[in-house]
Amino acid sequence: MFDRRYTADCRIYNMLAAAPRHLSFHTPGHKKGKWDITELSFSDNLSNPTGVLKETQTEIAAILGAKRSFLLTDGSTCGVLSMLCAAGIQKLVFSAAAHKSVYNGCRLLGIETIVLPVQYAGSVPLQPDPQKIAFALQNAGMEPSRSGKAEKAAVLLTSPDYYGNIADYAAVRAVCNAYGALLLCDGAHGGHLHGTPLYAGKYCDFWVDGVHKSLPAFTQGAVVSARTEALGERLAAAADIFRTTSPSYPILASVEYAVRYPRNPRLKKEAEAVKRRLHARENADWTKIVICYGKNAFEVQRGLEAKGIFPEFCDGENIMFYLSPAQPLAQLKKLEKALRGFESLRVEGEDIAPMPAFTAGKRTEKIEWISLRKSAGFTCAGDAGLFPPCLPVVREGQVIERKHIEKLSEAKSVYGLLEGKIAVYI
Ligand SMILES: Cc1ncc(COP(=O)(O)O)c(C=O)c1O
Repeated sequence: MFDRRYTADCRIYNMLAAAPRHLSFHTPGHKKGKWDITELSFSDNLSNPTGVLKETQTEIAAILGAKRSFLLTDGSTCGVLSMLCAAGIQKLVFSAAAHKSVYNGCRLLGIETIVLPVQYAGSVPLQPDPQKIAFALQNAGMEPSRSGKAEKAAVLLTSPDYYGNIADYAAVRAVCNAYGALLLCDGAHGGHLHGTPLYAGKYCDFWVDGVHKSLPAFTQGAVVSARTEALGERLAAAADIFRTTSPSYPILASVEYAVRYPRNPRLKKEAEAVKRRLHARENADWTKIVICYGKNAFEVQRGLEAKGIFPEFCDGENIMFYLSPAQPLAQLKKLEKALRGFESLRVEGEDIAPMPAFTAGKRTEKIEWISLRKSAGFTCAGDAGLFPPCLPVVREGQVIERKHIEKLSEAKSVYGLLEGKIAVYI
């Protein structure tokens, strides 16, 4: 995975490469200790780093423009939970099109959720309107403040999102400043944007970079960062709660490698040209190619897989192809060629009806798992959605409608369902 042209400055990689051959009477149990090791005298300790991990985290913070950054081997999920905990807030404003970790984090930490209804372009969720965020803060009892120190509430953006839409960070920051709210960003899909004007870290108090998605890191590699030293102290304590005590050194090395990985302007330019030629949805993020096939989407996905091409996900209407700076240009060309064969199945995305708006149902004390097919009209007792993008199709407390059932039954990979059953209030 590691390209030796780019490892010269990678501290963790080089520490592992130079690790002495030794007899392993330590974990992990496979006993092939050299790359996959545990905390040894030379490999530092992520919970209380004083050596190579401390130096790496300091350098990564400098690259990302943060005061403190923390390496994660537990995915952006851990980053989201850590920043929600570090924020120490009572209320969180966010778009309904948020990852399940945001909903779960609020449940775990007892944070009241103020969920903004999603605006769609066809079936694709858009970023929330800053004006609506301001109304939500106002309705939550936040006072416009000059001090900006109230910190009872925070706004969380998911940006870039899975569809390549990027929030208007400057406008949302101004709203947060006006109301004294913290600004958090779930940048699970934005690790490749640091150093560009589209980077969340320029505006946020806490943010997550999911480097394993859009940069060449092993799965689960991520970083969570804080803007100030004081917030960084809180984040250090929070990350220590949610992180594993057995972090994988290969993942740690890959996170550092990914953050230092060079840009690929040639691929970016070609990806943007491919998007135009294939009539992909317009978006702001070159690593995400989203093409709308409407009801043909699963058929196109199967056709592509038969040709050995596996997209990131199909949401029932759109297929999403994920690039990273490490993607060979030749593969992008192959993708374009294959997609030309499905051009007749593409549809204009704006014609697709969005998912139904949230209708609140009745909550009761009793929850039962019933067949999804027979669940129309019941009130959902837990979030359920497609996996990925891990956004809820139907949320806890929402009345289940036909369209939710169709979407969840068509998908191969879902969360919130158990053997075709969904939890409802009886
Ligand atoms: C927006 C968003 N946030 C957070 C996550 C969680 O990331 P991870 O799977 O790295 O824990 C995902 C994963 O798909 C995501 O799409």
